[in-house]
Amino acid sequence: NYIKIFSPATVANVSCGFDALGLALETVGDTMTFTKTDVEGIKITQITGADLPLDTQINAAGVVALAMLEKHPADFGIDITIHKGYTPGSGLGSSAASAAGAAFGVNQLLGGIYSPLELTQFAMLGEEATCGTPIADNVSAAIYGGFTLVRSYEPLSIVKIPVPADLRVVAIHPQVEVKTKDARDVLPTEIPLKDAVTQWANVGGLISGLHTNDYQLIADSLIDIIVEPARKTLIPHFDLVKKEALKAGALGAGISGSGPTIFALCKGDATAENVYKAIQNTYQDKQIDFNMILSKINTKGIKIL
Ligand code: HSE
Repeated sequence: NYIKIFSPATVANVSCGFDALGLALETVGDTMTFTKTDVEGIKITQITGADLPLDTQINAAGVVALAMLEKHPADFGIDITIHKGYTPGSGLGSSAASAAGAAFGVNQLLGGIYSPLELTQFAMLGEEATCGTPIADNVSAAIYGGFTLVRSYEPLSIVKIPVPADLRVVAIHPQVEVKTKDARDVLPTEIPLKDAVTQWANVGGLISGLHTNDYQLIADSLIDIIVEPARKTLIPHFDLVKKEALKAGALGAGISGSGPTIFALCKGDATAENVYKAIQNTYQDKQIDFNMILSKINTKGIKIL
């Protein structure tokens, strides 16, 4: 009658895989509870850690939960609480963590009737409600864990990609706001074929590197020549932070989702700590306010606490 879960923060795109790739973090995310009640319907009774609407028609978790009960009516209601473990609007899939968490939690109370793919479809409704587009990269990574590839949107097809054991994520979140909608408005609507070839070759290289634990191939493939150039102007000192991350040994660095968080993938704890310090120093020198994360990759997705 009651369930408590952890739903992870996620890094979408992972450089070359715009709207198609995502990865889940081990240490950062939302904690949510779901309690069966006698009063039918969904109620978000409490949100801590961020100032977000309790209104179920607007809140990502509420939208998802309502859609699930509409499709599968229940003779009970559900009270939801959400503790946001990190700042919304960071580019670390905050709305996705809540949307995916709601899909997972409600499904548990319904008896586990939906598959991970169906949960992803429900969670995409939360993304649509919050940023205008039903993107699957963050929500699929939160639900499946590890790296996920959204191989097709119609019909939805999600492929789980293996995670090399030494891979670490360092992320730095400058305290500026970048709305996903605004970050999508600056994107090119057409791209030269030559650029498309470069980009999809890098996605292929990254996927292959992840399968074969080939860290050099992963490093060579973490390149985005289409989305990053259009968005990086929204992020303070992006080029400098990236340069310092690479100099400190990162395999690659890029914009996490739609930003403003910058992420770096690193091999091993020692390198990750070096990269952490290098980019921390960069923002300290420039007097930019920021938060930082160093995390393993979460390979299991949402977990019951
Ligand atoms: N793939 C999306 C984007 C993630 O980059 O706009 C943000 O939700």
